[in-house]
Amino acid sequence: MSRKKTILDIQKMKKSGEKICAITCYDYPTAQIINGCEVDVILVGDSVGVVFSGYDNTLRVTMEEMIYHTRAVARAKADALLVADMPFLSYQLDVREARLNAGRLVKDGGAEAVKLEGGENVADIIRAIVDMDVPVMGHIGLTPQSIHRMGGYKVQGKKEEQGEKLLADALAVQSAGAFAVVMEGMPLKLARQITAELSIPTIGIGAGPDCDGQVLVIHDILGICDKYSPKFVKRYADAKSLIASAVTQYSHEVKSVEFPDEEHSFH
Ligand code: KIV
Repeated sequence: MSRKKTILDIQKMKKSGEKICAITCYDYPTAQIINGCEVDVILVGDSVGVVFSGYDNTLRVTMEEMIYHTRAVARAKADALLVADMPFLSYQLDVREARLNAGRLVKDGGAEAVKLEGGENVADIIRAIVDMDVPVMGHIGLTPQSIHRMGGYKVQGKKEEQGEKLLADALAVQSAGAFAVVMEGMPLKLARQITAELSIPTIGIGAGPDCDGQVLVIHDILGICDKYSPKFVKRYADAKSLIASAVTQYSHEVKSVEFPDEEHSFH
């Protein structure tokens, strides 16, 4: 029988060598489905802004939106560790506000940990949140909230000095007390080196096979949202076609009065 995963279980997986499987989720029914799928971490990512709300990037996502989606996912009471993203401007301004917002994701949303983007520049903020016993997952490399600094969603750390900076970021996040770190969009060799140097688990997305785990956006693997199609995404289903064909068939049957039939009517 499976049981609730904690940050300790996730950290043990690095030591035992068992890969960590993480996936994003933003709603209750999907979280219920995921609960039977041997997933270790559910991330209510701020990617919700792009794949659910239709924004161009994650910058507009609010605390209220994150709490709403986290609460919906938490209601499924899944065994996976529930991590919620801290949206842009919820942690960058000052430590007090960052602590308050991290606390709200736990208290009002039901998250068991929070994730925030950045390296050396957010180490103090990570430390302050961890100090109030809210576990923090770091996120370095291609950090979507920094889209304007990066000039787009570009692979980071390709040049040697950039790679050194990402290693310094990873070490800073670890020293600040993060229990794990997402490493997004970086060369696999660099991700392998950082993973070997850290004692906390690394969870890769577009960072090659040698991270301690992987995370992907659920809409991407299901083939629901084809707005962006990065090289690192593998599609495991074509849900867009499945949904479109079901809805088209329903529409045809309504127009031809095939539906509702006897079976779906009351006497
Ligand atoms: O917002 C998100 O979904 C994320 C993952 C893709 C790592 O940060």
